[in-house]
Formats: sequence, structure tokens, C-alpha cells
Amino acid sequence: MRFYVTEDYAQMSRRAASIIAAQVVAKPDCVLGLATGSSPVGAYQNLVKWNKEGILSFAEVRSVNLDEYIGLSPEHEQSYRYFMQDNLFNHIDIKPENTNVPNGLAADPDQAAVDYEKVIASMNGVDLQLLGMGHNGHIAFNEPCDEFIMDTHVVELTESTIKVNARFFASMDEVPRKAMTMGIRSIMKAKKILVVVAGADKAEAVYKSFAGPVNPQVPASILQLHADVTVVGDKAAMSKLIEAGLAK
Ligand code: GLP
Repeated sequence: MRFYVTEDYAQMSRRAASIIAAQVVAKPDCVLGLATGSSPVGAYQNLVKWNKEGILSFAEVRSVNLDEYIGLSPEHEQSYRYFMQDNLFNHIDIKPENTNVPNGLAADPDQAAVDYEKVIASMNGVDLQLLGMGHNGHIAFNEPCDEFIMDTHVVELTESTIKVNARFFASMDEVPRKAMTMGIRSIMKAKKILVVVAGADKAEAVYKSFAGPVNPQVPASILQLHADVTVVGDKAAMSKLIEAGLAK
């Protein structure tokens, strides 16, 4: 596991974007696993800029997203499909048909989860999976649990995640209670994983995930068992790892 500590969010975003860009340059037809949330937004802005400048092309890239709220349409401003269009896809040369986000409106979400797993398999695996992290150590929408859930599945969101995500909705009542998410195996199968974390409020989750025991109550801790993980975090998010002498 490699840790990169950056001064601030802007530097974190640039470093993360450069790792994604390196992947795309090395393998123009790669499969990118993409994430939503505030953590990757800055990285996406850099990728958009480099694409517009003509130094990076996504023309052959295929993508799979981690998760989606159940019940939100792609046009809903808080849906993850909308987020991806708005923050990345609408501004780069990726082909729309090469982008995949779970369908939040599927009539049978459990079946849609099984089908999504087949989509990932049909791409021969994800080359680079980008991840953010929740305050409780969740990755995608794999919430703290008694056991790791392996494949793409439907999940009930925890109260704490609903509360944290309420800031994006008009009220708590509007936050969906369920989501579809890639599972732990779906994520761990990626050849490389890139985690982006920023802000002091993530320091505890970062420390527990990367310095604590591997434990489904801290879902991101499973990443310790992956052979190729890079964590890019600002110094606030990495502060407890730095204090413990595990990152500098
Ligand atoms: C949501 C997403 C996660 C994301 C997390 C953290 O729960 N499902 O993929 O990592 O939020 O978001 P943020 O980066 O805004 O802190």
C-alpha cells in the first residue's frame, strides 16, 4: 500500500488525476472504475482540463461506476448517473455507450445487481478502481456490517450515511434509503485501486482502515489485502497515519 500525503485538496486532486491519466495513457482502452462524492470531484476537473487541452483522450476508455441510489432517475440531480454526467462524462470524449452506472430505477433491483456483475465481468475486469471513503469507513455503499458482502447487491443505507448525504437533498426525508453497490469482491478484483481522501473528518476512518485490523465493521480495511492500492490524501485526512509514523 502506497500513501501520498498532499498539502491540500487541490494537490490531492492533481495527484489522483495524474495517476488516472497515467493509466489511460499506458492503456488507452482501459476499464476505469469510477466513484462519486466530493472527494473525486477535483480529480475529475483535472481530467476534464487535460482532455480539453488535447493531452488525454478517453475515446477508447470504458467505465463502470460503483453505486447508485435506488429510486432516483438518471435525470435526478442527486443520482450518481447525473453526478457522473455533470462532473465528467459530459465534458470529455468518452463514448456514452462505454459508461456504466447501476440503474436506480430497475424494476427488479436484485436482478439488476446480478446483471451489473455480468457487465463488469464482460469487460475482463477493472484496470483502475477509484474510491472515496465514508466517515464510517464505507467504500461505495458497502456499509459497516457483520460480514463483507461480495458481489453487487442492494443495500439499506445506515442512518449515519443518510445523515451525511442529506446535505445534498432538500430534507432528510428525500434521501433514498437504499442503494445498489458493487460488493467487496467486485471492488477487490480491480487490478489497481486508488483511494482519495480529504479533510480532518476522515482522519479516524483512514486510520482505522489502513492501520487497524481487517474488519467488516470498517469496510475499507479490506483494502489492506489488495496487492496494489495507492491512497492519496491531504494531510488533514492522513494526520493519524502520520502521527503513527505510517505515512509522511
Ligand atoms: C457516498 C458514496 C461513496 C463515497 C462517500 C464519501 O456514500 N457512495 O462512494 O466514497 O459518499 O463521499 P465524500 O467523498 O463526499 O466524502
